[in-house]
Amino acid sequence: MNKTLTKTFILLLVITAFSCKTESNNSNANTSEATTPYDAKVDSLMSLMTPQEKIGQTVMYSGGWSVTGPVVSSNNQKFIKEGSVGAMLNVYSVKGTRDLQKMAVEETRLGIPLLFGYDVIHGFKTIFPINLGLAASWDLEDIEKGSRIAAEEASAEGIHWTFAPMVDIARDPRWGRISEGAGEDVYLGSEIAKAYVKGFQGDDLSKHNTILACAKHFVGYGAAQAGRDYHTVNMGMDELRNVYLPPFEAAVDAGVETFMTAFNEVNGVPATGNKFIFRDILRDEWGFNGFVVTDYTAINELVMHGFAEDRKHATELAIKAGVDQDMMSSANREFLEELANEGTVNIALINDACRRILLAKYKLGLFDDPYRYCDEQREKEVVYKPEFLEAARKSAAMCSVLLKNDDETLPLDKNQTIALIGPLVKDKENILGNWGAAGDRKGKAISIHQGIQDYVADSKIIFAKGCEIEGDDASEFGQAISAARRADKVVMVLGEDYDMSGEAASRTNIKLPGRQTDLIKAIRKAVPNKKIILVLMNGRPLDLSEEDILADAILETWFPGTSGGYGVADVLFGAYNPSAKLPVTFPRTLGQVPIYYNMKNTGRPIPDHDPHEDYKSHYLDTPNTPLYPFGHGLSYTTFEYSDTEFSSKIIGFSDTLTVSATITNTGDYDGYEVVQFYVHDKVGSITRPVKELKGFQKVFLKKGESKTVSFELSAEDLKFYNLEEFTVEPGVFEIAIKGTSDFDFEQSFILE
Ligand code: NOJ
Repeated sequence: MNKTLTKTFILLLVITAFSCKTESNNSNANTSEATTPYDAKVDSLMSLMTPQEKIGQTVMYSGGWSVTGPVVSSNNQKFIKEGSVGAMLNVYSVKGTRDLQKMAVEETRLGIPLLFGYDVIHGFKTIFPINLGLAASWDLEDIEKGSRIAAEEASAEGIHWTFAPMVDIARDPRWGRISEGAGEDVYLGSEIAKAYVKGFQGDDLSKHNTILACAKHFVGYGAAQAGRDYHTVNMGMDELRNVYLPPFEAAVDAGVETFMTAFNEVNGVPATGNKFIFRDILRDEWGFNGFVVTDYTAINELVMHGFAEDRKHATELAIKAGVDQDMMSSANREFLEELANEGTVNIALINDACRRILLAKYKLGLFDDPYRYCDEQREKEVVYKPEFLEAARKSAAMCSVLLKNDDETLPLDKNQTIALIGPLVKDKENILGNWGAAGDRKGKAISIHQGIQDYVADSKIIFAKGCEIEGDDASEFGQAISAARRADKVVMVLGEDYDMSGEAASRTNIKLPGRQTDLIKAIRKAVPNKKIILVLMNGRPLDLSEEDILADAILETWFPGTSGGYGVADVLFGAYNPSAKLPVTFPRTLGQVPIYYNMKNTGRPIPDHDPHEDYKSHYLDTPNTPLYPFGHGLSYTTFEYSDTEFSSKIIGFSDTLTVSATITNTGDYDGYEVVQFYVHDKVGSITRPVKELKGFQKVFLKKGESKTVSFELSAEDLKFYNLEEFTVEPGVFEIAIKGTSDFDFEQSFILE
């Protein structure tokens, strides 16, 4: 039979099979077997596939358009034509993906379409603020909308699958990938995980503008020792179950279709070969039915970890642990068949993996039309739509955290002269942040300078760069000082390079790099009585202890994205009243790390009456408290919290408690407030954190307006893993509704 005839025959078989489901050969008895409308089609197709073709589906290669890992040369096109590739990463655009898709569809025996994956992390072309910044908005609707826009753009450029969201809890600012997640908190991180998944996958994967999401990196990646990327992770079950796993479970609950393995080991077993986390937890406990892809070359790395003897052994360990697709190791392609032939790997495991990947392709509609994501017209219409750029501007404003604002230094007055100083003032490259996907770091990005120009005449702006982000050159300090002297107010735009955070970008020093702190000092000395506003761009919490003394106002904008300059200027001039709150603690000094609000009390906490009392859990040289706590963020207005009330002081295990408080806007601006709901389980069979976020709401209040904000709490919300099982224990719980995590509890209720 020639190729065309073979394919027609196969197509008929696949269509017929739609109405007569064949027996599933899924071997994993423990996997919860959700039936899908595509099962019969998958069975039918698989009955025609050779073992090599099935293995081919479990293989992913890079097209090399972006470099997101060590460059590995491979003969991609030859392998695609042989039917030995199931997915590609790092290729995009209609033309780029169509060319490769054509090879898979027209030049292989079965014509199975490829899946195109890409790191669409905080936007595709229209880049939103980095994810840590997005988390600072505490705005689930906005995060979902941003990822919907990212999916619209990516899908219009041939992408079917994003390697996002990264839902790793991160509590160590040295770790560069802290920028890619939602910060330190379990509850906030879990809610945000769901918002991303919904945004990317939409309500129907078969629509051409939705893409598969991927929860990564399973698991513990954010707990790398000493904040060094890829480093060892060793944690007890309390931390694993109660802190690091929940955002992943939330992603499963939201219907995430894929998972990615982490590079790190978890308690001695590298994640990519870890049966406990993939088979026992992900599949058996959570009933995850999607497919698992490794991180980049992670199967090969099992050898370096000292867990596998060689790459063949690594291949065996990975598939046995529950890995379905091999990103860039070439291991499945080289060794799986041999392992199956010699009986080391049960062919049923290969069938399982292949089945899950094919199912994803069916769900996306790729068997109906492999080119459905390849429409030039749509590509032209969708990318950088004005409304997307406008949404990114709004996000940039919503994500900017006002850390400090003494004497109402901000907002700026349009009539005053501004000295605009710093290496990031005119920057269009760093402003997109790390993982800028296919975003344009030149023409399209709006610098802070451009944003400010939108508000004030050029004659009112005096620009001086002052210094570079890194390096030791202070030769331009003089020009900066002169600019400061001639202006009414000084705005300094300082921070990190975008590639100082992200993957393989850990730092042992979390201060502003280069001479930037010296630059502020020089300016403060030169203009002791002028207001200095520090606008920051950075991918991690920084040690700002000196800047906090030197500047009158500090606006943390993270890396605010394509429309960042406009959004940040909206905040600076008061068109948007800042509402963002920190999703992560800012330490006073690196020596306090890891520092996070929901810590344990220890047996020797510091007494309120004497923070220096001997033999207590503290430092000799620094207070325990952070510089800026989780949940902190100022507004141009002020909010007062009062009348916290409970529906009952005693609740049973099947009751729901309603807690409410009145929030009043007592200042001079209308604005949003992120109202936070905290609980403290006072005594447990294992110790519980001193505070836990259990809810939040973003409310809009006109000046003078009051609103009652209510939260509901059930016993289920209080459950935790007690080293044996998930449980809710009776007892006293402290409770509070506040605008920051920095407070003392005053009220309690009893669960009995
Ligand atoms: C390695 C990163 O750890 C992962 O997050 C990313 O998705 C892959 N490279 C693919 O680029």
